[in-house]
Amino acid sequence: MIRFNEAIDQALVESITTYGQAVEQTRKTVLGVLGHDLRTPLSAVTLGVDLLSKSEEPGTRRHRIIAQIATSAKAANLMVSDLLDLARCNLGTGIPVRPESTDLTAVCKAVVDELAVAHPNAQIIFTDEEAVTGQYDPSRMAQVFSNLIGNAVRHGNAHQPIHVTVSGDGSTARFSVLNHGTPIPASALPSLFSPEGRYSKHSGEEQGTSSGLGLGLFIATQIVEGHGGTVAVESTLERGTTFSVSLPVYP
Ligand SMILES: Nc1ncnc2c1ncn2[C@@H]1O[C@H](COP(=O)(O)OP(=O)(O)OP(=O)(O)O)[C@@H](O)[C@H]1O
Ligand SMILES: [Mg+2]
Repeated sequence: MIRFNEAIDQALVESITTYGQAVEQTRKTVLGVLGHDLRTPLSAVTLGVDLLSKSEEPGTRRHRIIAQIATSAKAANLMVSDLLDLARCNLGTGIPVRPESTDLTAVCKAVVDELAVAHPNAQIIFTDEEAVTGQYDPSRMAQVFSNLIGNAVRHGNAHQPIHVTVSGDGSTARFSVLNHGTPIPASALPSLFSPEGRYSKHSGEEQGTSSGLGLGLFIATQIVEGHGGTVAVESTLERGTTFSVSLPVYP
């Protein structure tokens, strides 16, 4: 009985320590994002509104300013959503996934189309062998596709095409995105999918508005794992960077 109590005490101490670390990690990230990253889009919104309110800007310039405000507000909104997802993962519930009968190919195609409009210079080549349908959360899977294809657009070589494929064999659905450009260093791979790594922040390569929070891969992986799937990566200079997602197919 004493040994049993000791084991319970030990388990409690361990879980409190782990929880404490998760809280501390989340606190640091939230404060980091609030204090640093969110300021960029919010300053752009404030500046834009300021310009609009006090000047007689000509129509075309007004439209440009309004479009910039919309883009910045959307970026700020995405950051807040990502922070909430991080907090959900670190502090308890995980990212909620609500599966329903979904055509994964159509979801992916819609994301590709949206990104192609947003990045007209990117060459995104989409190959779908057939409609892959199953029980998936459509908006969360759209978030996975958007994070992974968005990464290829943002971090890959803009002059080389990006290949996106969706396929299925009845029991497994597969999605992959391949881009060229500077590979992800092997040393960054172990922490690439964890929020602690925040590899993008440590790389120092990206600055300014194009740099992200470094949470996209973590969130994408959590969503895929919430569906019982896995995410893998391969990155070399010769063969490029490929992120692959495998998901079970539940009809
Ligand atoms: N397809 C890719 N090709 C090359 N490097 C990549 C690719 N995807 C991710 N990376 C590297 O991994 C880092 C982490 O990616 P992740 O998506 O988690 O964060 P992010 O894109 O920097 O920010 P965000 O939170 O907006 O997604 C990126 O900053 C980039 O350096
Ligand atoms: Mg990203």
